[in-house]
Amino acid sequence: MEQYIMKGGNPLVGEVNISGAKNAALGILAASVMTDEDVVIENLPDVRDINVMLEAIEEIGARVDRIDRHTVRINASGIGEVSVDDEYIRRIRASYYFIGALLGKYKSAQVPLPGGCNIGSRPIDLHLKGFRALGADITVERGAVIAHAIDLVGAHLYMDKVSVGATINVMMAATLAEGLTIIENAAKEPHVVDVANFLNSMGANIKGAGTDVIRIRGVARLHGTEYSIIPDQIEAGTFMCAAAITRGDVMVRNVIPKHLEAISAKLIEIGCEVIEFDDAVRVVGKPVQHHTNINTLPYPGFPTDMQPQITVTLALARGTSIVTESIFENRFKYVDELARMGGNIKVEGNVAVIDGVKNFSGAAVNAPDLRAGAALVIAGLAADGYTVVDEIGYIQRGYECFEEKLRGLGAMIEKVDSEKEAMKFRLRVG
Ligand code: UD1
Repeated sequence: MEQYIMKGGNPLVGEVNISGAKNAALGILAASVMTDEDVVIENLPDVRDINVMLEAIEEIGARVDRIDRHTVRINASGIGEVSVDDEYIRRIRASYYFIGALLGKYKSAQVPLPGGCNIGSRPIDLHLKGFRALGADITVERGAVIAHAIDLVGAHLYMDKVSVGATINVMMAATLAEGLTIIENAAKEPHVVDVANFLNSMGANIKGAGTDVIRIRGVARLHGTEYSIIPDQIEAGTFMCAAAITRGDVMVRNVIPKHLEAISAKLIEIGCEVIEFDDAVRVVGKPVQHHTNINTLPYPGFPTDMQPQITVTLALARGTSIVTESIFENRFKYVDELARMGGNIKVEGNVAVIDGVKNFSGAAVNAPDLRAGAALVIAGLAADGYTVVDEIGYIQRGYECFEEKLRGLGAMIEKVDSEKEAMKFRLRVG
């Protein structure tokens, strides 16, 4: 089984290029089946979740041509099924975006209901409420959502909770509905805006994405487009924390600094230097970094997907920090793993109280999910001695060439899949 093995202690120094945003790409790929014309998507991250989504698109009958590692051409004119296979839903939750995309285009969709996941229960009631408001008949039968509409008609919706997924999903269906849809209390995340921009480039009429009121004037059809995905805010933030925790100096390139403001602000608060450029952010860690408090919130608040990475960073800062997880109910599972490395964190419900320690010591740990896995890797890079992170399949779902990019910054890290390879690494790095 593949693992990352690393020897910590090297400050990360240099430049790293950030890939396209996974979460934007998941919505955009689903939306690309809403036209019969060719859609070319650039800056796709080459990560597992995206590759599974592409397989799911092929499975329902669309043609997918890989132009190069980060570019695909999709033609959905051959779609024969409005039913997505259970296997894909199990492998990737975001295939729930097919409900909105297929319902919008074909007025019919059948998609297995995604289950909970490692960060807590993840209902999709708001998605379904939105589709019903547009006039769809929605039933849940034998574990699948079955959606049909004779006509989808625009509606005025209020989201009871800010939800990225529900906002994107309802926006997709409303794009091809009749008349005006208004989504109030919409999510404002950069990837909501990116999916809206993508749909607009196909002829949709969406205004207000990025604010909490989105207005969608339905159009009769969408046409082909060429579109380049925005940089990944969370991958960028992970490298920013990696610079901070290793007391390094990293230029994080190909980013939109505005999307990183909440992360930059917290790193500045703990004493790091953060310098913004047009499309890059440089983070310089300091020998002594200080505690702070963080509350995860919808954008432009501090992202829940950065909570583990900032928590491990605070676990090596002076003083007591408090991190409150307001979005997901079970997102502190990695804390037990970090304790094996010497982290001192107590969790009570959705609050973590972090007493900063001077050093971590390397240990064998398990990645419990994608972002927590990445956080354990950056903790390992700041630890004394060797750390082995298991279950790295989670990390590969969302980080392109993670270990290669870290090595480019001077990290001693390798992906191994046998004890022999791990031994070779130990002998080589000494
Ligand atoms: C997306 C991101 C995920 C990120 C999350 C929050 C993708 C593919 N995933 O997930 O990485 O952590 O946003 O920024 O983009 N909720 C309901 N009912 C619903 C939908 C959501 O109660 O119908 C709740 C959720 O349980 C959660 C909160 O709303 O507590 C926010 O979830 P949401 O924004 O929908 O997350 P996702 O879109 O699933």
